[in-house]
Amino acid sequence: MDTAFSSVLMVEWRTCWRTASLIRRSAAQPSMSKDYLEAAIEIAQEAGKILREEFDRPAQITYKGDVDLVTQADKRSEQAIVTRLTKYFPEHSIAAEEGTGHEGGSEFRWHVDPLDGTTNFAHGYPCFSVSIALAQRGALLVGVVYNPFYDELFAACRGGGATLNGERIFVSKVDTLATSLLGTGFPTHKRHANPNIHFYWDFTLRSHGVRRDGSAALDLASVAAGRFDGFWEFGLKPWDTAAGVLLIEEAGGKVSDFAGQPYQLGGPMILATNGIIHEEARGVALEISQREPSAPLRR
Ligand code: IPD
Ligand code: CA
Ligand code: CA
Repeated sequence: MDTAFSSVLMVEWRTCWRTASLIRRSAAQPSMSKDYLEAAIEIAQEAGKILREEFDRPAQITYKGDVDLVTQADKRSEQAIVTRLTKYFPEHSIAAEEGTGHEGGSEFRWHVDPLDGTTNFAHGYPCFSVSIALAQRGALLVGVVYNPFYDELFAACRGGGATLNGERIFVSKVDTLATSLLGTGFPTHKRHANPNIHFYWDFTLRSHGVRRDGSAALDLASVAAGRFDGFWEFGLKPWDTAAGVLLIEEAGGKVSDFAGQPYQLGGPMILATNGIIHEEARGVALEISQREPSAPLRR
């Protein structure tokens, strides 16, 4: 990295961290020494260590639905994250996938997926992550996605850019759907009601290919890092997408629903791209949703 660029980066990061500290202080937590991003990174790495340990043991699987798995690793990771967040930010709300979060009295909410990619994890496929994000009245401030197997830490702070292991990342410059590499995913619940197979088919034929890696948080991080040019999925929860959405926005990409409205956490579908192919991909998504069999937009 050239010197001029790295000093611009340093200034941006310092501003970002300072802003986060100021916001935290103004939320009446003057004794807290850590800022939000620093805390999210530290906690994601701690949870990642737990996942890495558990990955080498036989998985203890239970089922939340017919193919909706939960392991000892999901629970241990969530316990560590919630405990530490509660210690640092006792008034904040925490929405965590395995249900151990709580409502706090403040306008700050952490969105936590302690193990995104549980099915991969349980089968020994090393594609999984920890995803932690903080929103203030719904506006994302900080997002971290950590892949402990490859030790890849994606981090973003509103206005401060996105990084991978400390190096600035940007979305790709691919400018046509035909030359793009895309990602998508399929839910583990109500699989029969999900229309995505039709989208998968069409987008596969209209691009260089569609990957289905099994961790939505990592898929979104891959768009931010320019590895994928776009991603879509239906029915994702706020803890799947919150960190990844901020990563993409801070890396210069675009996130919306199929109607082009800004993506709302927990919305029925997400379309995230490098921005350049967004309208083309959105047009295709709309076209597919207007065909039989009926898709979500034809409610
Ligand atoms: C799942 C993964 C997967 C996506 C599913 C999610 P989980 O999360 O993100 O990629 O396709 O919709 O539920 O259950 O592994 O945390
Ligand atoms: Ca998830
Ligand atoms: Ca999970």
